[in-house]
Amino acid sequence: MPAKRPNNPARELLFGDLWEYDPAPETAPAHIAPRYDLFINGQFTAPKSKKWFDSISPGNEQKVSEIALANEADVNAAFAAATAAFSKWSKTSGAERGKYLYRIARLLQDRAREFAVAETIDGGKPIRESRDFDVPVAAAHFFYHAGWADKLAYAAPGRTLAPLGVVGQIIPWNFPLLMLAWKIAPALACGNTVILKPAETTSVTAMKFCSILQDAGLPPGVVNIVTGAGDTGTNIIHHPAAAKIAFTGSTAIGKFIQRTLAGTDKRLTLELGGKAANIVFEDAPIDQAVEGIVNGIFFNQGHVCCAGSRLLVQESVADEVLRKLKMRLRHLRVGDPLDKNTDIGAINSRKQLEKIQELVKSGVQEGAEIHQPACKLPKRGFYFAPTLFSNVSLSHRIAREEIFGPVLSILTFRTPEEAVEKANNTPYGLSAGVWTDKGSRILKMSTELKAGVVWANTYNKFDPASPFGGYKESGFGREGGKQGLLDYAQIV
Ligand code: NAI
Ligand code: MG
Repeated sequence: MPAKRPNNPARELLFGDLWEYDPAPETAPAHIAPRYDLFINGQFTAPKSKKWFDSISPGNEQKVSEIALANEADVNAAFAAATAAFSKWSKTSGAERGKYLYRIARLLQDRAREFAVAETIDGGKPIRESRDFDVPVAAAHFFYHAGWADKLAYAAPGRTLAPLGVVGQIIPWNFPLLMLAWKIAPALACGNTVILKPAETTSVTAMKFCSILQDAGLPPGVVNIVTGAGDTGTNIIHHPAAAKIAFTGSTAIGKFIQRTLAGTDKRLTLELGGKAANIVFEDAPIDQAVEGIVNGIFFNQGHVCCAGSRLLVQESVADEVLRKLKMRLRHLRVGDPLDKNTDIGAINSRKQLEKIQELVKSGVQEGAEIHQPACKLPKRGFYFAPTLFSNVSLSHRIAREEIFGPVLSILTFRTPEEAVEKANNTPYGLSAGVWTDKGSRILKMSTELKAGVVWANTYNKFDPASPFGGYKESGFGREGGKQGLLDYAQIV
């Protein structure tokens, strides 16, 4: 029975409770194996540890697959394979390396739907996002770097570039396949060989990717994938054969890695957390800004290092923005990640859900005002309703700490100077957003904001040609573009 239409003087489009939606589940097969071994020297290899752990689907808490737990001996075997492969791969011509990268990109495109479904099952993100964002952008990174492989001379004119050697790469769980592409594509384009470790909750697409490497005929040992949690990662960063470590993840682990590598000649790039300011001026197109705010914080359940998690809105339009945001939130659909209607899927893990719950509780306790739409959350799985906090002050934990969930903290400002000061008042510096009608203000803000990426009148736009990375505790080094490429090469 449709619910009774409420008194609605604002003529708001109220979809939420008025109709039942037919479910629209994705039906393409994900082809997930019941168990995955390690991928070393071009072969799936049983772990010497003789241990596997479960990967579950955060959407329904069911087991997805068993993933090998790599111990020190397994990591050593991967480094031995990568070291042996390096001597030949580093001398393979750029044109030849580029062919492999093109092949990988095209094979990934061929199997895009299958990879999208697997990503959504294993990690909980909405199928709409894995289908339209994660997988196509991952393929785009391989295409882009395929183009660089035989043009490295143009990346550093007049100088000669050489690969670094064997690189260790550790990635997080928020964009599993995409982070793999960001790491592997530039490394191979420059002639390095790789040991990559996916995050322990999201290893499935990385293991499926190994079959693409086999189909592409990539020489054995050029890419090795070892699975496991923090201990496996520690074995990688300690390994003497690693010429470089590239890490994306939490600031705490990033600092630990930096301390561990201090005094060695290993190179390091870190892509860590963020607490981005999304700044809305009174002259901004407000409806467009509201869409950008929603995308900025609710994309991928807010599990985004560059999420626009602090909204700074000019006081004169704050009431209007809050009213429209609350209305927009009522239309977001939270639930089954495999349903094509879903806007907000599952939180990646119980641990992450508990972290979000704890920080939201602190927001209420510290006196911010919470707004959550009435929405039915599935009984099984890890879910959190989209949440707004108004009356937030800079000292609140929810304004300072990375929540990494669908939670937006709203602060106000009066002058552009105040906006810049508040935006930069954070230990992070990864990204920012500016919404205004004035082009000159965009240019001024983008130089004053201490953030690696500044989006203007849009948010969360990514392109392989555009370097991405942070300042301060958000890390150093760039990924994408010529800058990201050069982080995998040395001038000789
Ligand atoms: P994490 O930093 O522990 O995990 C990231 C990766 O590092 C995973 O592959 C993990 O296995 C690996 N790792 C963990 N300990 C390690 C160690 N001692 N040595 C080497 N590798 C190690 O992040 P976690 O605990 O999953 O998430 C905690 C918080 O970190 C999140 O709530 C979020 O705020 C932030 N985070 C930020 C990310 C970003 O993209 N900037 C990504 C993931 C988490
Ligand atoms: Mg999983």
